[in-house]
Amino acid sequence: MGKVTLSGKGRRWLMKGHPWVYRDDIADGDGTRGELVPVEDPNGHPLGWGLYSTASRIAVRMVTRQAEQPNREFWVNRMRRSVEHRIQLGMMDPEGSCRIISGDADGFPGLVIDRYAKTFVVQSGSQGSDRMRDFLLDVMKEVLPFQPEVIVDRSDASVRKLEKLEPRVETIEGSLDGTVLAKDGGLTYEVDVLTGHKTGHYLDQSRNRRAAAERGKGGRVLDAFSYDGLFGLHAALAGAEQVTCLEQNKAACERILANAERNGLQDKIKVERVDCMKDMRARAEKEERYELIVVDPPAFARSKKEIEGAERGYVELNRRAFDLAPPGGSVVTASCSYNVSAQDFVQFIGKSAHLAQRDVWIEELAKASPDHPHLATLPESDYLKCAFLRVG
Ligand SMILES: C[S@@+](CC[C@H](N)C(=O)[O-])C[C@H]1O[C@@H](n2cnc3c(N)ncnc32)[C@H](O)[C@@H]1O
Repeated sequence: MGKVTLSGKGRRWLMKGHPWVYRDDIADGDGTRGELVPVEDPNGHPLGWGLYSTASRIAVRMVTRQAEQPNREFWVNRMRRSVEHRIQLGMMDPEGSCRIISGDADGFPGLVIDRYAKTFVVQSGSQGSDRMRDFLLDVMKEVLPFQPEVIVDRSDASVRKLEKLEPRVETIEGSLDGTVLAKDGGLTYEVDVLTGHKTGHYLDQSRNRRAAAERGKGGRVLDAFSYDGLFGLHAALAGAEQVTCLEQNKAACERILANAERNGLQDKIKVERVDCMKDMRARAEKEERYELIVVDPPAFARSKKEIEGAERGYVELNRRAFDLAPPGGSVVTASCSYNVSAQDFVQFIGKSAHLAQRDVWIEELAKASPDHPHLATLPESDYLKCAFLRVG
């Protein structure tokens, strides 16, 4: 069995609580691909157990700080903790949707499990989660309040390259015939679990969509970067008069229309397949106005090096959103770039307000839905910022 002994620096880092051990901080030892290994300090005192990677700069992702080796009971208890958390959050309606396992933040390094009704989608991003996939799925079934009908593996995210893992998409259990449908609040929506973004949908915005919808009641809504249109559809359901969804992905545009029809909202929803950057500028030049504008672009800064470019993108987009808001209107603007801090994002919003020559009040700065928990010792699990703004 493998074993890892940390350097003094590695020990100090781990003692601060962060669950990752970087390869440079290992004084001695190793493990095999994805192996659960004991971690020791330079004097041989146990520091816990973690999953080893032979490829990544993150050599060990800690699972426990206890000296005892995690056994099946350990994993059952850990899985139960995650499932019970979602039950407490009211997210385990069998027809609903939520993230059941949110990787390292839930104590399952590299593993994501999302649920769309009874279709479960697993995403593994590390050697450890690859090695433990089938075992953990068994454990999950043991503690779930209802059983999955279908389990799909959507392990095709680019982070796998860092672990020298090939992409993998397969149906592990059941069969995917017909459209996968799930509920989110009062809406039923379809999910493309095989080729859609992430595991098929952006579950992390679920709570923010409902809060945003309240601001669009009785008004016109512009949902920019709408993907499946769930911000816009929630706004329509909550009583918006007219909703325009902007999205460049053809399949996503088709799903917005199908979702609108499915929920009887087709008369309120318009979909335009456009580049939001250009389109919002053109709308501002035509002096269009919307009582609620949602801006939810893809991550602009995938690394620290990209922050400057990302700033230009966020400032420009939010400036256009402010141009499109009437006095008293709302803008709900998000950034899912981990590398852009909440503080940076607020600064960018301020720059946009200045350029648009508008007063802008930050009424709330929200995060991802709580089924995507932010673990206090893992800053990397806090990536989504969603600002609720009032424009003067
Ligand atoms: C973070 S996702 C949006 C999630 C969505 N708001 C939701 O609630 O599910 C970003 C979306 O922007 C789209 N996109 C990226 N660049 C775009 C562009 N320049 N114009 C229009 N859409 C774009 C992507 O296809 C993706 O669907």
